Amino acid sequence: MGNQACCAVKDSEANQTGNAELSKAEAVPVLDGGIKASKEEPIYEVMLDKSTGGKLGLDVDYMAERRVLPVMCITGGLAEQWNQNNPDKQISKGDSLISVNGIKGDVAVMLERCKTEKVLNLILAKKFNYDHLVADIENLVTTQGCGAILIRLSCNDAGVYKEGQGGCSNAAMRFTDGGESKFAANAGLPTVALSLLRPISDKYVPDLISHADLWALSSNVAIRVMSGPTITTRFGRPDAKSSAEGVSGQEGRLPDGDKGADHLRSIFHAKGFDDKAIVALSGRRTTGRKDLATSGFDGAWTEQPLKFDNSYYKELLAKTYTPETTSKGCSQNRHGASRTIMLASDKALVDDSTFKLHTESYANDQASWFNDFGLAWKKLQENGHVGLRDVL
Ligand code: HEM
Repeated sequence: MGNQACCAVKDSEANQTGNAELSKAEAVPVLDGGIKASKEEPIYEVMLDKSTGGKLGLDVDYMAERRVLPVMCITGGLAEQWNQNNPDKQISKGDSLISVNGIKGDVAVMLERCKTEKVLNLILAKKFNYDHLVADIENLVTTQGCGAILIRLSCNDAGVYKEGQGGCSNAAMRFTDGGESKFAANAGLPTVALSLLRPISDKYVPDLISHADLWALSSNVAIRVMSGPTITTRFGRPDAKSSAEGVSGQEGRLPDGDKGADHLRSIFHAKGFDDKAIVALSGRRTTGRKDLATSGFDGAWTEQPLKFDNSYYKELLAKTYTPETTSKGCSQNRHGASRTIMLASDKALVDDSTFKLHTESYANDQASWFNDFGLAWKKLQENGHVGLRDVL
């Protein structure tokens, strides 16, 4: 029922815009133990009647930007009584109120109804708050080994913000009728990455989080799970409502792996990143599951591709590479590959003398890379956004 309720909102949005949003999972191979659709996270209904004088006994966390009211604790009163009488529908911390007497989405009105109306018909979603969302992402990354493609999803989404708009038209790659989903640099993201995230986005978007925020958060959870630095996510990225809200082309926005130092500078300096930050960002070269690779090369960037560490810099300096090209076609070989590869854009980090100094420094000092990567990555994820908030 909860998912139906969520879908109802999304369906109506889609109808209004007339856009074709990716509607079902593509054939992404799922490993055993993968996250299941949210069957065990049911929606339940609660009736509380204050007319006999009892107090509600329910603390919720109000934030104007949210569409739900997360339950913080049960403080006695009618809520506790309800829990004693309804063991199968216990109101618990971690659940969220998604509707109060038919009001949905407007938390100010929902809260007001809780305070003023005698009889309350509450609809709650079980295990529906920030902590449960993070746990679901951790589970996805751990069981599916898909952290790399989630990092790439966030990177490419952040890289296409519309300059000068004071906000982004993010997440436009969800639509099948054009825009960002058609960019060569996004190959595999609308299908593979979004399909992997679908059980989570079906459950939490839009009631708890936007797609764009989910992508940012998922990448940061993935980085941490893969032994990388802990990067805090801020929230409030709006989702594009149609592909028309996306940017017109990738040209000048997303880097081309077949090009060198001048190209990297022209892309990243325009977004406010200096040479050091370009090198810091480039070290993210983890590689995903081989069966999820999209354009693909015959090899992986690093010998331990599922680990987020500074081996990218070490291997760049230690080995001799003939650059692979992005047009090479699909590969069957990703993580676990014995052969490591670099693109022209990677080789630029040792061929250019300024870039090389930073490459050497990060190869020798993982802690300083984690620090610089964290700062540059957060800046990239937040570029073009205004008014982001610390809490979801
Ligand atoms: C510096 C310029 C960059 C270039 C030229 C570039 C280009 C590419 C290309 C061509 C791929 C292969 C895509 C595929 O799987 O078919 C790739 C993968 C990837 N990129 Fe980027 N990218 C750049 C920057 C970044 C940044 C800044 C990040 C994040 C901090 C990032 C994260 C990733 C990740 C994690 C993958 C592996 C995805 C997987 O294996 O599924 N990239 N990149």
